[in-house]
Amino acid sequence: MGSRVLLVGAGAREHAVAWKLRQSAKVDEIFIAPGNAGTALCGTNLADIQPKHIDELVKAAKAHKIDFYLSTMDDPQPLGLVDRLTAEGVLCYGPTKAAAQLESSKAFSKKFMVEHGIRTAAATVFSDYREACAYVESLNDHGIVVKASGLAAGKGVIVCYDNRDALTALDIIMVRRDFGSAGDQVLIEQRLEGWEASAHAFCDGKTAVMMPFASDYKRAQDGDIGLNTGGMGAYSPSARVDEGLATEIRTNVVEKVMAGMAASGMPFNGTLYPGMMIAKDGAYCLEFNARMGDPEAQVLMPRLETDLFDVCQAAAQGKLAGIGVRWSDKAAVGVVMASGGYPATYKLGHVIEGVDDVDADVMVFHAGTKADSRGLVTYGGRVLTVVATGATVAEARAKAYDNVKRIHFMDAQYRKDIAAGV
Ligand code: AMP
Ligand code: GLY
Repeated sequence: MGSRVLLVGAGAREHAVAWKLRQSAKVDEIFIAPGNAGTALCGTNLADIQPKHIDELVKAAKAHKIDFYLSTMDDPQPLGLVDRLTAEGVLCYGPTKAAAQLESSKAFSKKFMVEHGIRTAAATVFSDYREACAYVESLNDHGIVVKASGLAAGKGVIVCYDNRDALTALDIIMVRRDFGSAGDQVLIEQRLEGWEASAHAFCDGKTAVMMPFASDYKRAQDGDIGLNTGGMGAYSPSARVDEGLATEIRTNVVEKVMAGMAASGMPFNGTLYPGMMIAKDGAYCLEFNARMGDPEAQVLMPRLETDLFDVCQAAAQGKLAGIGVRWSDKAAVGVVMASGGYPATYKLGHVIEGVDDVDADVMVFHAGTKADSRGLVTYGGRVLTVVATGATVAEARAKAYDNVKRIHFMDAQYRKDIAAGV
């Protein structure tokens, strides 16, 4: 008998993971809470259950006889979903509440990096607004970054160019409390310059197996300008990450996390995604995510040749060392189609046309979509990720954009420069 798997989330990342799991002969059923119109094509949506509703997730896991949980997004783990499901006898690929602190507390992860010799930007942690302001004023106008320590949906990091920006950032986080309790503590961090790369690894508590590198595009508009978004596109492999750099990140970051967390009694199980900044003097770890990146997952899943369920099951059982994970040599490029106005205000409910007109080997992963009486309609900021593969990044890119042009909804917006010049 095959497995009954639970996924939590409603993004194109969850659709990509569900799509990949669907290819496994070992998976009977996939349940996605709450899911979207795309995940409904791969399994059963538990549309009424939100990612932070841990009690309901545990109840649903029992009701649907779920025997495997594969974590993809950040919200449920810091609330203890893995701990609770494990106690119910569900095998889990994902971090416990304690291990999820690597992502859920930037104060924790900064201290961890310093203690374990992982190169990172220097930072000081404050819980008192006045002390934080006094510290900023004592600095000499060097660029700094102000970060809310807790989870803030990717928005709690404010890059500042002078002390005034930094004081405004402290006001937003600690006085206005735009990110709620995530801003109880702030980090004031040295601003680094360089280029970014997303590292991902499957982790089983002791052993980590690196995935290929991916690069994402965080800003809303072409040329990397405009507001920060959840991510407007991605490609893999990352052209600029050579073998030397990949080895450095594996040994100096990922393996140090595995050893350090295990030694602290919090072995890390699940996907570890260190956000790296490659500066002139080497690679710095900016943060840890204890999950897959979105849109990185959308370009990684189509390149994975090994059965995803086999890999995650082995990781959950602490047996990753015996598993060979194979990846396609093909490149993948994903372009996010978003609602006009995203990431600020946008309208929902526009009819989406053309998702069935794409090439047979092109994937359209849904995020903010919903099926209603008019068919498929928009239901969020990021709506779709269109992913194509090719012998080269350039070939995959051309194909992705050719297919994006076949999909239409009112005010659709997408970047034209994803993977350009790679
Ligand atoms: P984080 O969530 O900590 O990765 O921060 C989100 C984004 O803010 C990163 O992807 C970077 O673009 C930027 N960022 C974070 N920390 C720094 C830093 N120390 N220097 C420059 N940019 C940063
Ligand atoms: N692609 C950025 C993130 O998932 O955090």
